[in-house]
Amino acid sequence: MSAAMIIVADSSDDLGRRAAQAVLESAQRAASPDDMFTMALSGGNTPRVLFNALASSPFRDQMPWDRTQVFFSDERFVPPTSPDSNYHSAEEALLSRVPIPDRFVHRLATVDITPEESASIYEEGLRRVLEAAPSQIPRLDLILLGIGDDGHTASLFPDTQALNETDDLVVPNYVPRLDAWRITFTYPLINAARRVMFLVAGNSKAAVVAEVMAGGEYPASRVRPSDGELLWVLDPEAASRLPERGTTSA
Ligand code: 6PG
Repeated sequence: MSAAMIIVADSSDDLGRRAAQAVLESAQRAASPDDMFTMALSGGNTPRVLFNALASSPFRDQMPWDRTQVFFSDERFVPPTSPDSNYHSAEEALLSRVPIPDRFVHRLATVDITPEESASIYEEGLRRVLEAAPSQIPRLDLILLGIGDDGHTASLFPDTQALNETDDLVVPNYVPRLDAWRITFTYPLINAARRVMFLVAGNSKAAVVAEVMAGGEYPASRVRPSDGELLWVLDPEAASRLPERGTTSA
């Protein structure tokens, strides 16, 4: 894996724009009349600045929405109408505001289904859309991730079962500290991506960002695309504990 690239935005608004620029770059590389751009959105609150930027000019008009397939790198096991649902957040802030065909938005099933069934159905769907053979690991063009102050990413939380998964691409994961089920991408799927982008904002993340980048052992530290790019897009607060660097390149 090549070294990670770090972009430090000037402000929260700039964070959304810088992240949207990176998404657009990945999309323009991947989308063509014969090929789709495939990306997975992350959950939580941070992506809202990105979703807003992508749903606004100029990105809304530049993105190839009719050649874009959207997945979710993890999901809370709640109804899609719940404010806690990552799908609900993305639908409200982005997907309902851009001309992406409904059939290209792949929501995880979380109602009248078990977490195990939901994960395996989602993995099957992902393989089908990406036309991956059973023995292949499908390569998404872009996987967006956040990071928790405990170093979790997607729903790969410290000391949980999903951290040890080496075969399945999407698994259920019970998170004791939340007393909740999640569905999450696993490291094999994440690390097969052409680009993984961590989007991080706020002082509360500064310590964990610096520790992960210094080689600390956290779930997020194991995100190392085997043949892809790792990009961190940070606001000044989240980057505040990083060693002084030269200028960052976009
Ligand atoms: C989730 C996420 C999770 C999130 C981090 C950061 O479903 O919660 O996918 O990994 O990215 O917890 O969340 P915030 O952006 O809200 O700080």
